[in-house]
Amino acid sequence: MLEKYCKGLIDLSNHEAIGFIDSGVGGLTVVKEALRQLPNERLIYLGDTARCPYGPRPAEQVVQFTWEMTNFLLKKNIKMLVIACNTATAVALEEIKEQLNIPVVGVILPGTRAALKATKKNRIGVIGTAGTIKSNAYEKALKSKAPNTFTTSLACPKFVPIVESNEFYSSVAKKIVSETLAPLQIKELDTLILGCTHYPLLRPLIQNVMGNQVKLIDSGAETVSEVSMLLDYFDIANTPLHDNEQHEFFTTGSAKMFKAIADDWLNLETIEIEHIRLGEVKHD
Ligand code: DGL
Repeated sequence: MLEKYCKGLIDLSNHEAIGFIDSGVGGLTVVKEALRQLPNERLIYLGDTARCPYGPRPAEQVVQFTWEMTNFLLKKNIKMLVIACNTATAVALEEIKEQLNIPVVGVILPGTRAALKATKKNRIGVIGTAGTIKSNAYEKALKSKAPNTFTTSLACPKFVPIVESNEFYSSVAKKIVSETLAPLQIKELDTLILGCTHYPLLRPLIQNVMGNQVKLIDSGAETVSEVSMLLDYFDIANTPLHDNEQHEFFTTGSAKMFKAIADDWLNLETIEIEHIRLGEVKHD
């Protein structure tokens, strides 16, 4: 069990935080679920907004950026790492979990499990960034668990910039979503995996285009269930949060834009966002 999640295990304190990383605000969709399912846990989030999107970048660069985010959070003594980004999970999860001494969880396997649980006709679509779709990670995972499943994938490179610019309620967003997803409308899918953590913010628009007969899968809920199971398994769950145990949010981009989206999405009473720089620390 242990080696499925990390190289080994340091002596972990139950009071340390769970770390979440993403290329920008997308991982907040996973954090939202963590706040709901794990109210006793302290969370630390880092979004690399300054270098978002990761989707069109070469895999080696995404691996390097993911290490930089990971190293930043390791300095905060996190007890578990959630790679709340499909693009980073697809190319960096294996390498990172092989080298860390804390459990590391990605979002692709949980998304796959949730889709297989939901489908009735075994016709599953996957939408994601260019990097995730190119990696074939979802199709491989779906086929390995259920070989008879029909799968089809579509890269949606215009979706992440809409979300990062906080324009997901605009008419432009509606038009882009509808044009991009048109090829999927004829595939007779009953399940569609939102294979990018930014996409749940576009959920109403995507649902509208795909129709109510298509079940949309957001891997956040299933990912957090896995985190919850691991907290129990490794006996590192926190006791109720103390007043001095605050969630922390960091971005490499505009703290103002990040706060606007986080306030709207998370409904937390107060959120302080701190701007940080990445790129100087190299993993060796
Ligand atoms: N939120 C990310 C994902 O789940 C990445 C989006 C991007 O930076 O392109 O894939």
